[in-house]
Amino acid sequence: MNHSYFLESDMSLMEAPERNLAFDLVRVTEAAALASARWLGRGDKNAGDGAAVDAMRLSFNSLPIAGKVVIGEGEKDEAPMLYNGEIIGMGNGPSLDIAVDPVEGTNLLAYGRPNAIAVVGAAPGGSMYNPGPSFYMQKLVVGQAARDVIDLDAPVHVNLRLIAKALGKDTNDLVVFVLDKPRHQKLIQEIRAVGARIQLHTDGDVAGALMAVDQRSEVDVMMGTGGTPEGVLAACAIKGAGGAMLARLDPQSEAEKAAIQEAGIDLAQILDADTLVQGDDVFFAATGISGGTFLRGVQFSGQGAVTHSMIIRSKTGTMRYIESHHNWNKLMQISSIKYD
Ligand code: FBP
Repeated sequence: MNHSYFLESDMSLMEAPERNLAFDLVRVTEAAALASARWLGRGDKNAGDGAAVDAMRLSFNSLPIAGKVVIGEGEKDEAPMLYNGEIIGMGNGPSLDIAVDPVEGTNLLAYGRPNAIAVVGAAPGGSMYNPGPSFYMQKLVVGQAARDVIDLDAPVHVNLRLIAKALGKDTNDLVVFVLDKPRHQKLIQEIRAVGARIQLHTDGDVAGALMAVDQRSEVDVMMGTGGTPEGVLAACAIKGAGGAMLARLDPQSEAEKAAIQEAGIDLAQILDADTLVQGDDVFFAATGISGGTFLRGVQFSGQGAVTHSMIIRSKTGTMRYIESHHNWNKLMQISSIKYD
């Protein structure tokens, strides 16, 4: 048998590995985390966010991409940098929609609470859902084993019973991540009535969604209403990490509702991860800022710092956890961001 012939023909069927942009994105989230972690617990959420935005933008502009911020820091007038519509990157690479949250959980950072993270998602230009004037979205997120049983229109007790069954658990084994907000009083009562357990977090539902899809976390489900931009970012991760997300815009004021209707956006539409980010070329990176159950926070030493990140590529479903050791002496010779 001519082995070399078979080898060559097999190889012609194989795809050459493409560039995994998540490796570029993690440098951006690391920069944001390193800069903002200096503000841990100092009570100034704007300063922490500002430091992360500056670092993230400088880092993006060293990347060979033609990026457009679709999920950013808000409208241009309020946000001087990383505003929705801003063009970022060196302009000489792939055309990408970019979602950023330089500090996801600005209060978590300001008060030194767990799970503040720096987050970025990227996908080919035109493939990300544009939330327009929508701020809030109802979300239901589960891991892979329960992905086919959830229904946003079903009562809470029905969803929880079906999720428990799909996971081979009792309902009182379940842990549900819920944001600790007055709007969730009824939801919390309904979850308790089924006997399921709850983790209440003041902020940070991107981390909540990641916990729900990560088998190593004790969280089984994330339920409730959080930010719409955070929903798109979570979808970027879920596309690669597995699991499912169902969402629907959930305006929290008459003004928000009117603005969404005026923009011609359908308030009733159920949005899943594939609607929020289309296609299979989606990249996600997150770096821990404050230490959490999920990603460790930035550890500073006199000479540098250690960061912990995760990156996900949807096409292959590969998730990587990256521990980086940063050296101020060397970094400060080439970096325009002042970290030390
Ligand atoms: P910020 O980082 O912008 O402060 O957002 C934190 C967060 O808790 C998100 O994780 C969540 O989606 C959203 O705020 C909920 O909004 P609100 O605090 O207004 O209920």
